[in-house]
Amino acid sequence: MKRSDIIGFYKKSADERWRILREFGGLAGAEIAALCDTGALSFRQVDRMIENAVGSMPLPLGVALNFRVNGKDYLIPMATEEPSVVAAASTAAKMARERGGFTTSSSGPVMIGQVQLVDVPDPQAARLTILRHREEILALANEGHPTLIRSGGGAKDVDARVVHTAQGPMVVAHLHVDCRDAMGANVVSTMAEAVGPRLASWTGGRVYLRVVSNLAVERLARARATFAKDAIQTDRASGEEVVKGILEAFAFAEADPFRAATHNKGIMNGVDAVVVAAGNDWRAVEAGAHAYAAWRPGGYRSLTTWERDAEGDLIGTIELPMALGLVGGVTAVHPTAKANVRLLGVKTAQELGEVVAAVGLAQNFAALRALATEGIQEGTPSPE
Ligand code: MEV
Repeated sequence: MKRSDIIGFYKKSADERWRILREFGGLAGAEIAALCDTGALSFRQVDRMIENAVGSMPLPLGVALNFRVNGKDYLIPMATEEPSVVAAASTAAKMARERGGFTTSSSGPVMIGQVQLVDVPDPQAARLTILRHREEILALANEGHPTLIRSGGGAKDVDARVVHTAQGPMVVAHLHVDCRDAMGANVVSTMAEAVGPRLASWTGGRVYLRVVSNLAVERLARARATFAKDAIQTDRASGEEVVKGILEAFAFAEADPFRAATHNKGIMNGVDAVVVAAGNDWRAVEAGAHAYAAWRPGGYRSLTTWERDAEGDLIGTIELPMALGLVGGVTAVHPTAKANVRLLGVKTAQELGEVVAAVGLAQNFAALRALATEGIQEGTPSPE
């Protein structure tokens, strides 16, 4: 019987690992060759990034054209295996250009770190105890992060809630941390770990989880674009019909979570592709986006809005959490991610997030335009 409990796999050389895979999976030489081609990364780099490394998994990388964001043109690298995504984004960006492209904004780059306290004798009183110690908590959290503090970041605020759970009431403290150009998961979790024991001793409770929250409601990116009705007609539908169809599709997504999930998946086709190309944690962005879509009043809904202006043109907006970093992590070491960030020409994580939001909006426009007219299979755009 083949066994998967291989002792010390991580200590074995690359050749030994491949030999094990060949035997275990009955892989042919060509299959092993496909696995072990690490592309722009050396095997050493791959081996340092993850455990039990055996190769890398390349994705196609394309470039979306036509994007103008806040008056500046961008070529947008997109890593995705899905056909039509890059062409659709490019087509939508070309149509948005008619009215100046995308305008964007952001909240501050603030992430939340959570500290879970259980078995707290007086939860409501404990909440106030935590809030009373705000300054000490912030000082403790910021200890040991001089670089972040020097750049204007660091823990800025504290709050606490009583959360009623199946295990009884818990006190959950939130640290609000300005992460500047870091994605922040590590620094925020480190801060939460640092303050946890002190919170436990002040409140008389026991500290359990201390980790970043991916529902990054204080790190939002927003984009807006006007699509002139005369620029968006299809072979079979007039501009007015396209506007009407997109408004109907949006109303559907707002009213029905079964549709909203797919609507938002289309947005994430664009968002994830840029986030992956920039070497960022797309799972964090995915988690944040869908949690945000569900957290706002009204239940799980669209991340975009669509409306018609007085001229009959279509206005789209998007707002979603965007926990991205340009320092630390893979962005700083992966040669392809580094090249992609250089190509984008973004100077801050915030700028990157806004460009990503614009791509998400463009992707949603393209999907709805195709769905509301020819249908997504027939209406798939060819490259622009
Ligand atoms: C497919 O990857 C994405 C779409 O289903 C999005 C949508 O339905 O809005 C086309």
